[in-house]
Amino acid sequence: MVRTFAVIGDPIDHSLSPAMHNAAFLETRMDCTYIAYRVPRGDLSAGLDSLRAAGIEGYNVTIPHKVAIMERLDSVSEECSLIGAANLVHDRGGRRRGFNTDMEGFLRPLLSRNVPLSGCRVLLLGAGGAARAGASGLAARGASHIHVCNRDTGKARGLAEHCSKMGVSSSSGPLPSYVEGGFDLVVNATSVGMNGGPSPADMSRVPPGVVAYDMVYTPVRTSFLEQAEGADAATIPGWEMLLHQAALSFSILHGRDAPVPAMKRALLGVFD
Ligand code: ATR
Repeated sequence: MVRTFAVIGDPIDHSLSPAMHNAAFLETRMDCTYIAYRVPRGDLSAGLDSLRAAGIEGYNVTIPHKVAIMERLDSVSEECSLIGAANLVHDRGGRRRGFNTDMEGFLRPLLSRNVPLSGCRVLLLGAGGAARAGASGLAARGASHIHVCNRDTGKARGLAEHCSKMGVSSSSGPLPSYVEGGFDLVVNATSVGMNGGPSPADMSRVPPGVVAYDMVYTPVRTSFLEQAEGADAATIPGWEMLLHQAALSFSILHGRDAPVPAMKRALLGVFD
């Protein structure tokens, strides 16, 4: 019998997870399929029941459920409890276990470029589930200060407090209209810029040498990245984090190494 896996969220039509996971199944000759399943905000409990009724035993979780799902899990991994968000669920034997592969997926592109994280001054735009994963990873790697900016400043304050509890100096505020100096790394962890929208903050004045990292991956070259590039900042596109979190999710769900080159081909093929 074909086993079905899924990604849940809302909106979900833009998700590239099915392309990557289905390419991985093809490559490894696994008799499995992976679908996108829309679960609207506020309908999470009913959505999880439907997934269980349909026999879907593993699913990724995206906007807006990564934090809300924590209350509905029977157990969570160490990363999940550190971050306070889950992006992967295993539902087996009537028990749901949460995992978080966003943090590791976020860190890998920084580590592979040897971006110095110890002592790094970070400007983090956003305070949702993905931002929590990024902040936790940077805090764990010795960032010296994390300034969290968000439309909802109460959430920004909450995430800054989380960073402080992890032993990192932190502060918070509203989204700035433009970004200037004082930071080594600027991360866009909002969903602003998706599908070609404007950057959440004007990046055209960042000093050269700053690293600008966008978690948004559609389009590949977002306004945030284009503006940063124009200012001679180094840039990291969102598809890299997406690929690494997917590969880690595959390993956890299936207990084997992910065929990363096949997943990358499928992901980049969608953008061509
Ligand atoms: P994810 O799990 O991917 O982080 P999320 O938890 O829903 O998704 O978080 C989305 C982030 O994008 C939040 O920081 C959100 O800001 P609010 O907390 O103020 O909602 C941000 N965001 C989404 N739409 C936005 C918009 N139009 N302007 C500014 N920020 C926005």
